[in-house]
Amino acid sequence: MIKTELCKMLGVQYPIMQAPMGPYDTTELAAAVSNAGGFGVVSHPGASKGIAAKILTSPAESLDELIEDVRTRMRNALHWVKEHADYPFGLNLRVAPEHPEVPSLVDMIIEEREKDQDLKKKLRLIITSAGDPSQAHLKKIQEAGMLRFHTVPSVYHARKAEQSGVDAIVATGYEAGGHVAYQPIHTIVLVPAVVEAVKLPVIAGGGICDGAGLVAALAFGAVGIYMGTRFIASEECEFNPRSKDEIVQASKKFPKEAATIVTEGIFGPLRHLKNAYSRKLYELTQEGDRSKILQWEIEGAYLAFGPEGDIENGAIWSGQVAERLDKILPAKEIVDRIMKEAEEKLRSLPKKFLSS
Ligand SMILES: Cc1cc2nc3c(=O)[nH]c(=O)nc-3n(C[C@H](O)[C@H](O)[C@H](O)COP(=O)(O)O)c2cc1C
Repeated sequence: MIKTELCKMLGVQYPIMQAPMGPYDTTELAAAVSNAGGFGVVSHPGASKGIAAKILTSPAESLDELIEDVRTRMRNALHWVKEHADYPFGLNLRVAPEHPEVPSLVDMIIEEREKDQDLKKKLRLIITSAGDPSQAHLKKIQEAGMLRFHTVPSVYHARKAEQSGVDAIVATGYEAGGHVAYQPIHTIVLVPAVVEAVKLPVIAGGGICDGAGLVAALAFGAVGIYMGTRFIASEECEFNPRSKDEIVQASKKFPKEAATIVTEGIFGPLRHLKNAYSRKLYELTQEGDRSKILQWEIEGAYLAFGPEGDIENGAIWSGQVAERLDKILPAKEIVDRIMKEAEEKLRSLPKKFLSS
């Protein structure tokens, strides 16, 4: 049985974390991963459709409505997972300046935990990302008895996160789905460099989908793995089934070229599957008209993962590892397979390569 410091910190059986995937909901997925012995994570929700549109045209007037909307969505998600998961889980807050709702979300989460002992027991961790981890209101997370991890794409950011007082670092390389760094540093370089640079436990993310990936992460000195794309291709992931199929079909659909593309857009570099949406976003970014880029990003944001399932005109955020997936599986099977493969690898490697 593989046990690491991460299992103890999070109170879980296996050192496997489901990465958050906001603004899309990962509520059912989080419960399924936690029930499978891994660690499920509720994503930072986006605003409901009407409110998201209003905030663009009249931001000052719609701010309170936006904050209340996101608070309600997150509160509902937390209680849903608490009801459906028997084991600990976490949540993500994107702490960039584009998210003025964060201080209010922190207060709401702490209040809900204080009111509800079951939630207090299960909600162990907040993972902050995409912004400055030293913001004063984030300290309240640990003061309330929760752990705080921060995700980083570089050694520089890992050191800053350590100085800010977080409990562990999640290092995600350029292979990852969704937002990636401006400086392309890949997991195989990033993770060992971050492990060397900080004293805190490090979790490895970006491009991991199997037991060999877990063993590699452990060999680099990480205490566990963090997977987004692999868990999109799970039965419980609530993204539109057509978009999940696109991910597992990626290697067949793109036999001669990479299946994903990084486009800059308005909100920074993002890795998507190639389709009409991401190709046009790439072109618009080259042309540089920011209002057209923003409009295209907003129109396509939910078209593929949401109820429409429009896999050509909608954004399909996905990591490079899509090319290694061929099946949508139950979350439990994903977790069990990874643990079995990793244990087999750990036993077979010395026999294969160590001479006595
Ligand atoms: C659809 C999607 C949405 C994402 N949204 C978020 C997010 O809201 N917050 C965050 O910190 N990371 C987000 N990410 C990044 C993941 O948390 C994680 O770092 C990444 O998926 C790991 O790489 P992998 O996809 O190769 O497993 C997202 C990734 C995907 C694929």
